Amino acid sequence: MKEITALLMVLAVTTIATTALAAGKATLPKGYATWEKSKQQIVTDKNSLFYGIHYTYVDKKAFPVYKSGGKYPEGSQFVIEYFNIKDVGGKPTAGKKNMVVLMRKDKKQKETGGWLFAGFNADGRLSGVDPVKNCYECHLKTAKTTDLVISKFAEFK
Ligand code: HEC
Repeated sequence: MKEITALLMVLAVTTIATTALAAGKATLPKGYATWEKSKQQIVTDKNSLFYGIHYTYVDKKAFPVYKSGGKYPEGSQFVIEYFNIKDVGGKPTAGKKNMVVLMRKDKKQKETGGWLFAGFNADGRLSGVDPVKNCYECHLKTAKTTDLVISKFAEFK
């Protein structure tokens, strides 16, 4: 159980409690593995929601804005893959994938600031989290001035 992050527990509980609203039919975009990819990001604080190793992927539409700032064009997409941390000879290494998240600029998603937010299990099935309570509210609080995008281009250099 220790390996399961707090966030995953939150997600599991919410899966039972809620039916995904706007993200109801979302699927992971094909080929995101070929998009611009961040360096490995490690969060070693076990109390953090983001404990683990993750990589951010940014598509062609979003990347110029990600680099220089501004409003993202319709259809812009971000994906993050999260992994457990495996200790390989004292070096933290990506272990099992535990979660994938998606943001896609979509003006129909009025409740979540014009972005579709969707969470997936490691196998790519929707985890059924509530995109307002479990995604949007934190992104709004953290990244109001960057069109709800929190990560930074610096993670790619
Ligand atoms: C407690 C706050 C919080 C919650 C809740 C949260 N996120 Fe995030 N999210 C972050 C942070 C912090 C980053 C930046 C990570 C980095 O810098 O590598 C991020 C980054 C992202 C990104 C990459 C684009 C960006 O904004 O940098 C996507 C996609 C994403 N989150 C989707 C989701 C989805 C979908 C959910 C709901 C299942 C969710 N997030 C819930 C804090 C949150």
